[in-house]
Amino acid sequence: MRTLKHPVDIVMYLGTILLSTAGVTGTTILSVPNYLRQEEIRQEVSKYQDIANKIIDLAVHGSAQNQTYNRLAYMTDRFGNRIAGSRNLEHAIDYMLARLTEDGLENVHGEDVMVPHWVRGKESAMIIEPRRHPMAILGLGSSIATPSSGIKAEALVVKSFDELHKKASQAKGKIIVYNQDYHGYGTSVKYRRLGATEAAKVGGVASLIRSVTPFSINSPHTGQQDYGSNVTKIPTACITVEDAEMLYRMSNRGEKIVIHLKMSAKNLPPAKSRNTVAEIVGSKYPEQVVLVSGHFDSWDVGEGAMDDGGGAFISWQTLTLIRRLGLRPKRTLRMVLWTAEEQGGVGGRAYYERHKSNLKNMDLVMESDVGTFTPLGLKLTANKQATAVMKEVMKLLKAINASQLSTDGSETDITRWVENGVPGASLLNQNEKYFYFHHTNGDTMTVLDPHQLDLCAAVWAVVSFTVADLCEMLPR
Ligand SMILES: *[C@@H]1O[C@H](CO)[C@@H](O)[C@H](O)[C@H]1NC(C)=O
Ligand SMILES: *[C@@H]1O[C@H](CO)[C@@H](O)[C@H](O)[C@H]1NC(C)=O
Ligand SMILES: *[C@@H]1O[C@H](CO)[C@@H](O)[C@H](O)[C@H]1NC(C)=O
Ligand SMILES: [Zn+2]
Repeated sequence: MRTLKHPVDIVMYLGTILLSTAGVTGTTILSVPNYLRQEEIRQEVSKYQDIANKIIDLAVHGSAQNQTYNRLAYMTDRFGNRIAGSRNLEHAIDYMLARLTEDGLENVHGEDVMVPHWVRGKESAMIIEPRRHPMAILGLGSSIATPSSGIKAEALVVKSFDELHKKASQAKGKIIVYNQDYHGYGTSVKYRRLGATEAAKVGGVASLIRSVTPFSINSPHTGQQDYGSNVTKIPTACITVEDAEMLYRMSNRGEKIVIHLKMSAKNLPPAKSRNTVAEIVGSKYPEQVVLVSGHFDSWDVGEGAMDDGGGAFISWQTLTLIRRLGLRPKRTLRMVLWTAEEQGGVGGRAYYERHKSNLKNMDLVMESDVGTFTPLGLKLTANKQATAVMKEVMKLLKAINASQLSTDGSETDITRWVENGVPGASLLNQNEKYFYFHHTNGDTMTVLDPHQLDLCAAVWAVVSFTVADLCEMLPR
């Protein structure tokens, strides 16, 4: 139970006794009824409205207006995309460490992580029969190469793993083409992840996977794939929705399809990278932490501006805004920019292993990795009590219409904290178009909007500052 500090606490304390004696509840002062505790939390959080307004004002209307966009544009234009293992990524991390220090942030440092090092190389796919047609492709992360002369083979086109299994007897020696329907990213991504493995199991020599996206202008979407253990590794790439549908139509007409696939991808030895960290150290409980984050690595296409430059830079902006307002929360506000998220949350996992001894002091972990478009609020994974507190916190964002609180707040890099009971949050935003650009050459600054980034930074800053400054950590 909280100590009685404010007049409102005393009133509540008396209220509890009155209610107890009236027999309305059987409670004692040791267990405050929920609705009274909620009132106490409401009172405490509402005291942050002035600070929230100052943060919003600075971020959205004041001198920090457009800053997130401008900073991100400079970084992505200068360094380009940043795949794990690349010099681009490490140079961009060096640049960030310098900027974060210059920004007056505390404990700025990199934490070493060994990361996969896959290099795409040259690649092409040509339909030879029934008509010559060069396809736009992107090899999938961790794919092996073809022989240097390529693989020329007949194609077997299927719509699902089920159809592949039914046609298993026709699969040997063929290039397996998947034209799966799009049923949302979370569901359909299994074709990208496991397509090569399933194809190899039935004797396929390569696999081509329809890009996992609800929309296409002949744009291939890359991403990570995983070879199952004990399965022959075969080259694998994504093709466009347009080509996948055309191949399926040709196949349904009974036309013989022959494809010539060439890939020269390399899996090099793991490379050293870093998670990038900066803080505003807490004034009262420095060991307790509210963490804001995004991943700094990207795919090797586009600029990695949306995925996840936006998430990374609203996290930096959060610390900038708090520092510029001269605020210092009771708990430490820590920004982490993860490395090698795209290869399966490698940086996030390494960070958890290194810091899990501080599990009990992790108050809230936040990661933005599903777009930084117009924010609506937060997605949260937490128990009922913590959710009740967060509902009050979200009210501070009414002025920018970002007060919604929904479920499922875990993201790849914060999963382990959340699985171990730490409340986790991600950004609820109008990201209907996120997967249009995801993992493509179209992921550039052109997708992003300065005002939307300002609003996202304001949400991130108001929430993280308030939670870091409340009297108590979030219940778990
Ligand atoms: C932010 O960008 C908008 C649109 O380009 C511009 O009108 C505004 O003046 C900019 N704000 C600042 C502080 O530079
Ligand atoms: C892989 O093969 C080895 C040896 O044949 C076997 O012991 C192991 O269980 C297999 N693993 C899987 C995942 O099938
Ligand atoms: C919030 O929503 C209201 C009503 O839809 C609208 O008038 C207002 O402009 C919005 N404010 C912001 C900051 O988007
Ligand atoms: Zn991402």
